[in-house]
Amino acid sequence: MSEKKLCNISRRNLIAGAGKLAIGSAIAASALSVGFDVKDADASKKSLKWGWGYKKLDPKEVGEIAYKLWYKGYCCYAVVGSMVLPLRRKVGGPYKSLPIDAFRFGHGGVIGWGTICGTLLGAGIATSFIAGKTGEMMLNDIMAWYTETKLPEYKPRHPKYKGPMPITVSDSPLCHISVGKWMKKANKSFKSPARRDRCARLAADVAIYTVKILNQWVDDGYEYYMENEPQVAKYGITAQNNCMECHAKGIPGVPGK
Ligand code: HEC
Repeated sequence: MSEKKLCNISRRNLIAGAGKLAIGSAIAASALSVGFDVKDADASKKSLKWGWGYKKLDPKEVGEIAYKLWYKGYCCYAVVGSMVLPLRRKVGGPYKSLPIDAFRFGHGGVIGWGTICGTLLGAGIATSFIAGKTGEMMLNDIMAWYTETKLPEYKPRHPKYKGPMPITVSDSPLCHISVGKWMKKANKSFKSPARRDRCARLAADVAIYTVKILNQWVDDGYEYYMENEPQVAKYGITAQNNCMECHAKGIPGVPGK
């Protein structure tokens, strides 16, 4: 790393600060050894039902909230908020104290690194808070749908961008690939109003799809949505489905598969 200042902290300060940090963590470590044991952690079979519950929401309303919220805090924030805000009224309880601002970090595939699309991260956060472990299965289906569907589908009542809106299939849950394919087709820059509106509409689409699943869950139970085999079972490695896009010369063999 260069000697340049890093967030206004010079290297010297960082090193000097490291001493203080070390002392801090030594205190924390001794506290841990007295009071805590990881066997007390939540991840026991008993506690696998941690969901805070749900009452059916109107997909149209949720879509509109997500679209509007995108312009306040981007994709992940928008999708989480589109469900948490109405659930604060309908269910109340812990939803009232869940700060949706904490999920802003998901923008741009996690602070611009182009990894998972923030809308999907948001759907995962929301379904996990709402449905607990069942939320994982829902998210698997939401991710599969996202990669196969021409998006955005959502038509805002009052669109911020009024020009033509191309639609693309991402074939991938990655922000970089999803937005990149759209930018290529639309020939629009990342900062353009069209691209911004595309992602706001995508947030609405993902929120709407998620709420439809959650509503089905209330009506018919979750098994209905276990349509897609988990990725690791399918490939023997954590993976997206579009192997050939990156491994054009041939998919490498997977040890153990
Ligand atoms: C987004 C791009 C991307 C996609 C999609 C992708 N891979 Fe990879 N994969 C990589 C990169 C980059 C590496 C590291 C390559 C290296 O080290 O030479 C890698 C490594 C691997 C490896 C480790 C062995 C090796 O030769 O590097 C396996 C196995 C593998 N990929 C299998 C798959 C399979 C199966 C799929 C589809 C289910 C897939 N990959 C999809 C980018 C991708």
